[in-house]
Amino acid sequence: MNILLLGSGGREHALAWKLAQSPRCDTLWAAPGNPGIAQVATLAALDITDHAAVLAFCEANVIGLIVIGPEAPLVDGLSDSLRGQGFAVFGPSKAAAQLEGSKGFTKDLCARAGIPTGGYERVTSEAAALAALEKFGAPVVIKADGLAAGKGVTVAMTIAEAQDAVRDIFAGRFGQAGAEAVIEEFLEGEEASFFALTDGSTVVPFASAQDHKRVGDGDTGPNTGGMGAYSPAKVLTPALQAQAMTRIIVPTVRAMTNEGMPYSGVLFLGLMLTAKGPELIEYNCRFGDPECQAMLMRLESDLVELLHACAENRLAAIDPPRFSDDVALTVVMAANGYPGTPETGGAISGIDVAEALGAKVFHAGTARQGDTLVASGGRVLAVTARGASVSEAQATAYAAVDAIDFPTGFCRRDIGWREVAREHA
Ligand code: AMP
Ligand code: GLY
Repeated sequence: MNILLLGSGGREHALAWKLAQSPRCDTLWAAPGNPGIAQVATLAALDITDHAAVLAFCEANVIGLIVIGPEAPLVDGLSDSLRGQGFAVFGPSKAAAQLEGSKGFTKDLCARAGIPTGGYERVTSEAAALAALEKFGAPVVIKADGLAAGKGVTVAMTIAEAQDAVRDIFAGRFGQAGAEAVIEEFLEGEEASFFALTDGSTVVPFASAQDHKRVGDGDTGPNTGGMGAYSPAKVLTPALQAQAMTRIIVPTVRAMTNEGMPYSGVLFLGLMLTAKGPELIEYNCRFGDPECQAMLMRLESDLVELLHACAENRLAAIDPPRFSDDVALTVVMAANGYPGTPETGGAISGIDVAEALGAKVFHAGTARQGDTLVASGGRVLAVTARGASVSEAQATAYAAVDAIDFPTGFCRRDIGWREVAREHA
């Protein structure tokens, strides 16, 4: 079967690497891709916002499965356009992708289905938002309703900070994504991520992970897309995972189907492990980046079989995903300046040396300039390693990081710290 993978980040390099290993995969195409993806796939110069162009490409190249990596094309309805012409697509419809595309939609769905999450109020004006803040008090969380590239959430420790965030949103900082906002109860606990695959009727657990969102060591500094991750997240015990499935994920999938918006693809649950049990922080309608890189390093099943079964509504008929007992840990190397304006064009070398040490180096924001590999985005590489424990995987990953020569880049030195501390306790 020929497969088309859409996207160009570290997540998509990991997906491409795993898809290409499947005996079911004939030609793997990727658009727009990156130099790492080009090692395992053929890149297609395709504008993925142009649905007609993607359709024409799929017809001309007899594509049997389209895998959509990032959220923007899903929220934009690309999977509907492709499914409408009979193609098998891994990724939810536009209606189902509202679980990521609208915070207010998700909170209302949770309220209807009795899913545990923080109390909230949807607001469409600055005045209403400021009034809501008075009711909630600090700390409080303010979220732009729509997609804001991970920058639309403020966890405000004081009312003054909360008021600034509200004014920012309604002054148009996030454009249309901030025409509406959600004011939300602050939840306390440790965060973890959990992923499930579903075709709208069958739901199977995929894997857990823990992300590191802040740019600096010790979880300091501004939020990023994610500076590193490891999988599994042991803090999410089998009992807590079962609760997350039965209280949050399964009722969500059932509600979406019952309301005529069946969800198909991967459901990425951001959880807060509160004193009352797991509560939903947010949903994403795609794999996490860099969680995906860590999880796929552990996946033993055929990824093509899993994603194709989701796309064809036959997840019940195949074996559930199997993972190695190993831990995998990924360290993101970012370009100086990230998460602000990153310095692009800096040369990168030593990836071969890093991989010879046992790591896998996924490309996130790289480009070729002649014979030189250079940084072309904020997050540049995702250096991923396996080990019997988080400490072991971390040691291999950082040995590999240290073998990479990337003078205009940086990374956090403490990925996995919570679990490493528990392992040493
Ligand atoms: P998001 O962009 O939705 O992933 O949110 C970014 C981060 O904000 C999350 O990873 C949490 O650390 C934090 N956050 C979001 N909602 C809440 C909440 N209700 N209580 C506490 N922290 C939150
Ligand atoms: N690493 C978090 C995300 O992919 O949204």
